[in-house]
Amino acid sequence: MTTMNVLVIGSGGREHALCWKLAQSPRIGALHCAPGNAGIAQVATCQALAVGNHDDVIAFCRDHAIALVVVGPEQPLVDGLADALRAAGIRCFGPSAAAAQLVGSKGFTKDLCARHDIPTAAYGRFSNAAAAKDYIRAQGAPIVVKADGLAAGKGVVVAMTLDEALAAVDMIFGGGFGAAGAEVVVEEFLDGEEASFFVLTDGTAIVPLATAQDHKRVGDGDTGPNTGGMGAYSPAPVMTEAMVARALAEIVEPTVRGMAAEGMPYTGVLYAGLMITARGPKLIEYNCRFGDPECQVLMMRLASDLLDLLVAACDGTLAQAPVAWNPEPALTVVMAARGYPGEPLKGTEIRGLDAAGAVDGVVVFHAGTTAKDGRVYANGGRVLNVTAHGATVEEARTRAYAAVDRLDWPDGFCRRDIAWRALARD
Ligand code: AMP
Ligand code: GLY
Repeated sequence: MTTMNVLVIGSGGREHALCWKLAQSPRIGALHCAPGNAGIAQVATCQALAVGNHDDVIAFCRDHAIALVVVGPEQPLVDGLADALRAAGIRCFGPSAAAAQLVGSKGFTKDLCARHDIPTAAYGRFSNAAAAKDYIRAQGAPIVVKADGLAAGKGVVVAMTLDEALAAVDMIFGGGFGAAGAEVVVEEFLDGEEASFFVLTDGTAIVPLATAQDHKRVGDGDTGPNTGGMGAYSPAPVMTEAMVARALAEIVEPTVRGMAAEGMPYTGVLYAGLMITARGPKLIEYNCRFGDPECQVLMMRLASDLLDLLVAACDGTLAQAPVAWNPEPALTVVMAARGYPGEPLKGTEIRGLDAAGAVDGVVVFHAGTTAKDGRVYANGGRVLNVTAHGATVEEARTRAYAAVDRLDWPDGFCRRDIAWRALARD
């Protein structure tokens, strides 16, 4: 069997999970990650590579005979890294810059939905405050106000009152979300339960991956400010087989077909953020990457060879690629540094990682760590993803929190109620 050298781009828990799973492939050769973190260094060689410099990435790939580049975060894709690599003859998992507009511009995605009859919240696009406010007054509250561009997972105000919505328009046009707010999208408020749905696609074939549910608020009981995600579990009970079939037929398939028909074939992983309303699934947003921390629970459950799947998505052979899942649920608890999602405290030492990882069924993925002289230090907002599988959600959760309790890191915190929705259903 010929092996393949792989370069993963990114430094978070998502990339640790991807590297952990890729490292298990019988076909993996040398595994590199740029820039990586202290946990990733256990399964891959970390490289200090300026990912924004496409020529440097191409030169690295040539020097190290890289057969596949896997791009974790979306910014490099929006910046055209996949295009540059493919133009240089290097296989890259991730969409072109044109296809990544699905995440780079909310207005682009809303217009695509309108053209292809994809269910999503009713909306208006505005380049000045007066017109946006007229529309908001005509629609009434609750209503959702968004900056059009990439705003690092922020950029959205769910306004429960008219005053909040009008203030959000001034805030965004006033530069509150930076350049992302040059245009504003105003949306109908959707009521329901949120779920994350992932598919792999080679531009034609679509392979549904598992479903997951994230916990966006920082505090127990879904309170406090929004974060990148404080925990996740898979599968999401709200995504029944029938709901998955509807999400595929009504949302994902028309998107993939529409992008191909419009000359921007989408390849890679497509992450649909859905609201499951009383009238069925509606698209909230797309991301052109794996969710973080959803990826961690997906990788925990994936029974197939990840390397084979990613290569098939690049080579247009996904229709022949089998994908199998461990039926056991998986769950991840995010440990964040005190201060997150504001200013996280950096540089505090984390002990007890080996003891935590020794709990049955547990893997501790690193999201923001550095190592020095054999010690591990926090180096970000979200720092660790304590991930477990179990025969039931309850068992996975017990295992994950048992591992959390073995960590010795007084400056870290986590939510204690991950998967409450799934457990409330039982
Ligand atoms: P987004 O960045 O578009 O994912 O939005 C962030 C969060 O805002 C989502 O996860 C939802 O909780 C909420 N949200 C976004 N759009 C809507 C909508 N139209 N109706 C209700 N909630 C929304
Ligand atoms: N966990 C949400 C995201 O990756 O966008």
